[in-house]
Amino acid sequence: MVSSGCCLFGMTCLVSIFFQCGAVRVTVSESNIEVVQGDSVTLPCSFLTMMPLFRLSIIWTLTPFSDPDFPTQVIVYDQGQVIENPAFTGRVQFAGMPWSADVILNDTRVSDAGTYRCLVNNPPETGDPGIGELSLSVLAPPSLPLCLWEGDTSAGGSVTLSCLVLEGVPTPQMSWEKLEPDQITLPINIEGQLKGSVKIVNVSAQNSGVYRCSVTNLLGTQNCYINLSVYTPPDNSPGVVQGIVLTLFMALVLLTLLVLVLWLHRSAQESKWRNSHEDEECYNEIRYTPSLIKRSFV
Ligand SMILES: *[C@@H]1O[C@H](CO)[C@@H](O)[C@H](O)[C@H]1NC(C)=O
Ligand SMILES: *[C@@H]1O[C@H](CO)[C@@H](O)[C@H](O)[C@H]1NC(C)=O
Ligand SMILES: *[C@@H]1O[C@H](CO)[C@@H](O)[C@H](O)[C@H]1NC(C)=O
Repeated sequence: MVSSGCCLFGMTCLVSIFFQCGAVRVTVSESNIEVVQGDSVTLPCSFLTMMPLFRLSIIWTLTPFSDPDFPTQVIVYDQGQVIENPAFTGRVQFAGMPWSADVILNDTRVSDAGTYRCLVNNPPETGDPGIGELSLSVLAPPSLPLCLWEGDTSAGGSVTLSCLVLEGVPTPQMSWEKLEPDQITLPINIEGQLKGSVKIVNVSAQNSGVYRCSVTNLLGTQNCYINLSVYTPPDNSPGVVQGIVLTLFMALVLLTLLVLVLWLHRSAQESKWRNSHEDEECYNEIRYTPSLIKRSFV
């Protein structure tokens, strides 16, 4: 009687310990994890249970930073079966089952970033499942930015240079510089996280040159370039040159005309003179003919 009472008390005690322990206890050794895109990462989740693991179930969920309204299941363990989300197939696996709920995620992508939760249930252990939570950041170098320009590149016009970068975690810092002849950093107007532009008003030939947009984060830097050439209408120094050329040309034309007129005049006089001379010769010939004849007869 005494011994059975003791046994009953002991069992109650044991059961009450289980109740005090509550459900499965889950611990996460690191709650903020960073990984570089493409690398592998272990998402830690350990659990403690007093029950055998016959009915153990583990669910890993992801609430993406990019899409917080759409949490998804990543991988599930249920009574010995493993089911992966097709989006993670071949990239995710449990590491250390059944003693730990850690998973390894390979070939990480920027879209994998978010809040991960591991839910561990081990019936008949009562109560809510144990939940561990951690945040995963996937870092990525900036992608190659795109340099664009629009506007009027003739002198006096205004030109806008834009730079667009689509990827990069943390968000890349952007800068615009003019490289030649002097390196100048230009004031930049950031539109959203992706685009930065520079407006140049009343452009002149001095604004011609090579402009560079740089996007930088802790993983690297990428650049794109724009070659701006400002068109200056011919008015100042080119105008003077043109004027000189035109004057010289006209002087040449005038000179040619003068020479032509002089030549014509002279050739006209010459032909008049020759005509009169020829007349004279004819006359002379006729006149001298008798004497010639006379002489021949001599
Ligand atoms: C993840 O990468 C490791 C090491 O390269 C490899 O042993 C493991 O099989 C990979 N896991 C998956 C699910 O591909
Ligand atoms: C544009 O620039 C030229 C020379 O750089 C200057 O003479 C002119 O006043 C400027 N016009 C305006 C509207 O700022
Ligand atoms: C800019 O244009 C000049 C002349 O057309 C050329 O020599 C130079 O290589 C160009 N630079 C870039 C960065 O495209």
